Amino acid sequence: MGKSILILGACGQIGTELTLELRQKYGADAVVASDIREGSSSLMESGPFELLDATNYAAIEDVVMYYEIEEVYLMAAMLSATSEKFPLRAWNLNMNSLFNVLNLGKEKQIDKIFWPSSIAIFGPNTPKENTPQHTLTEPSTVYGISKLSGERWCEYYHKKFDVDVRSIRYPGLISWKTDPGGGTTDYAVEIFHEALTTGKYTCFLAADTFLPMMFMDDAIRATISLMEKESNALTVRSSYNLAAMSFSPRQLAQSIQGYLPNFEIRYEPDFRQQIADSWPSSIDDSLARSDWGWIPNYDLDSTTKTMLDNLKKE
Ligand code: SER
Repeated sequence: MGKSILILGACGQIGTELTLELRQKYGADAVVASDIREGSSSLMESGPFELLDATNYAAIEDVVMYYEIEEVYLMAAMLSATSEKFPLRAWNLNMNSLFNVLNLGKEKQIDKIFWPSSIAIFGPNTPKENTPQHTLTEPSTVYGISKLSGERWCEYYHKKFDVDVRSIRYPGLISWKTDPGGGTTDYAVEIFHEALTTGKYTCFLAADTFLPMMFMDDAIRATISLMEKESNALTVRSSYNLAAMSFSPRQLAQSIQGYLPNFEIRYEPDFRQQIADSWPSSIDDSLARSDWGWIPNYDLDSTTKTMLDNLKKE
């Protein structure tokens, strides 16, 4: 048998597509999906599934031993907008789940870990354009604080305990298979659903709010290629900057109008505007490119086209 993989948080926006892709690649039985709830039928029917709480160390350890798991992808987290409403719950979920997995690595029960970080680790004092890998961070959101702390712990466990943990600072992710939930970049997914159903969208961010974004296929490909790279090629053990495109709600609306000319957008910024304003507009990902050969495939127009084509079929 090849390697054996466990996905924690497999039913979420990233976890669903990551699980399906890893099953394609390594075989259905090699990839155990887990979450605190059941997921989409395509996920549930494609391979093994365990109900599992990522904050419960003993329960994860049982599953790791039972399936002889070698690699863990920890995709369970509370995102930025929800975390502002439930700060302590966000901190507990985001940090305890990470410690659980890092400690399994420290105990040598698993060989390799993937943990996602985010552009949310940056804050209002960070350079906004082409934000470098190493720069002032000072996140001002609960979610960003948890992700930056997580990055520091990943690097620490790598240095002190030789834990092979790898991470990407994902930009906003756009996908059609599973909806995001509780994020600030979620507008860039909601807008497609509304464009196709009602022809109108009221955006919770202002028209000219530029944020780094990526189509899900690119994010999944980046994740798997980072995980497949030989360990000694990686120079970053906190988390890699990663970029594909950068756009504003106005530009996304114009791109959609290229296919649906009657689509209308209005802007009613809410508390999420402040979160978005604290994040970079664009990201310098040159280390991901030089260390493990990262190149994005999707730009704004190909993302719009792929989203509309697939959602129409649904
Ligand atoms: N896209 C996420 C959010 O908006 C950030 O990682 O919360």
